[in-house]
Amino acid sequence: MGRVDGKVAIVTGGASGIGRATAALLAREGARVVVADRNLAGARQVAKEIGERGGQALAQWVDIAEESAVEALVAAAVERFGAVHVLHNNAALTDAGQHAADQDLVEMRVEDWDRSMAVNLRGAMLCCKHALPPMLGAGGGSIVNTASNQALSGDLTQFAYAAAKAGLIQLARSVATAYGRRGIRCNVVSPGLIRTPASEAACTPEMMDAIVEHNLVPRAGEPDDMAHAVLFLASDESAFITGQVLCVDGGQLAHLPHYGHLVRTGSTTTSRAVGESAE
Ligand SMILES: NC(=O)c1ccc[n+]([C@@H]2O[C@H](COP(=O)([O-])OP(=O)(O)OC[C@H]3O[C@@H](n4cnc5c(N)ncnc54)[C@H](O)[C@@H]3O)[C@@H](O)[C@H]2O)c1
Repeated sequence: MGRVDGKVAIVTGGASGIGRATAALLAREGARVVVADRNLAGARQVAKEIGERGGQALAQWVDIAEESAVEALVAAAVERFGAVHVLHNNAALTDAGQHAADQDLVEMRVEDWDRSMAVNLRGAMLCCKHALPPMLGAGGGSIVNTASNQALSGDLTQFAYAAAKAGLIQLARSVATAYGRRGIRCNVVSPGLIRTPASEAACTPEMMDAIVEHNLVPRAGEPDDMAHAVLFLASDESAFITGQVLCVDGGQLAHLPHYGHLVRTGSTTTSRAVGESAE
């Protein structure tokens, strides 16, 4: 028996990276999955692969920034599979153009800020807005927002992205609070560095190594690491967990900032106390 048998799940950004792995895992664990993406060819490929492994999936084009497209996505899910029980709000602007536009606050163009908010934050709100009625009609459901560790700590760039992702965390708490008594849970997964087409395009191998230096689990994350966390939060195994942020980051945010330097130099914060005198 699968861990999400009988459930219908919508995964936005399901054509690539984390969304692709999550759609595949949810299907393997018994869910009927709507693979939703603005990259329809990619979504179709993922749905095809799920079908070839004996699962059930529907590929659906969506631009989550557009309310009419989100409405059509939810309608397509209900028409094909009869219900919605799980929503993974995973799509975000991860392309090089958006990264380039979000480098420096003084140089920030209002339209680039607004585009980031429209996709990365408003998109998830619209998906919640339109998925909640069928979820409530089905007696409840689980929503999982994909944020980022950049929503939890400062960085040198990605001002709009980080602010939008922080908004997703509060959106999750608000949804969890307002609809909890009616059977809706809403949680957040916060990725550290996960090896996907987006992160591999954005980070040089040197930058990847520099980030991994601060992971307590000494590797980058894989899309399946995220998919397993989403599966748990989507399933009834997490029935008593709502309004929470789960960092899936190899421990990147679990330690003090000097950790990487100390490991590299083989020292500790108390080196002087245990071995050296002050003179
Ligand atoms: N990979 C990482 O290291 C990392 C770190 C922190 C957060 N995240 C977050 O994880 C999520 C997935 O990232 P990924 O690395 O798998 O990226 P990815 O680029 O591989 O996948 C993102 C998908 O979202 C789709 N998409 C983009 N805009 C869309 C829109 N307006 N409507 C519908 N679909 C749209 C893209 O077509 C793509 O298929 C994103 O929310 C990202 O911000 C990733």
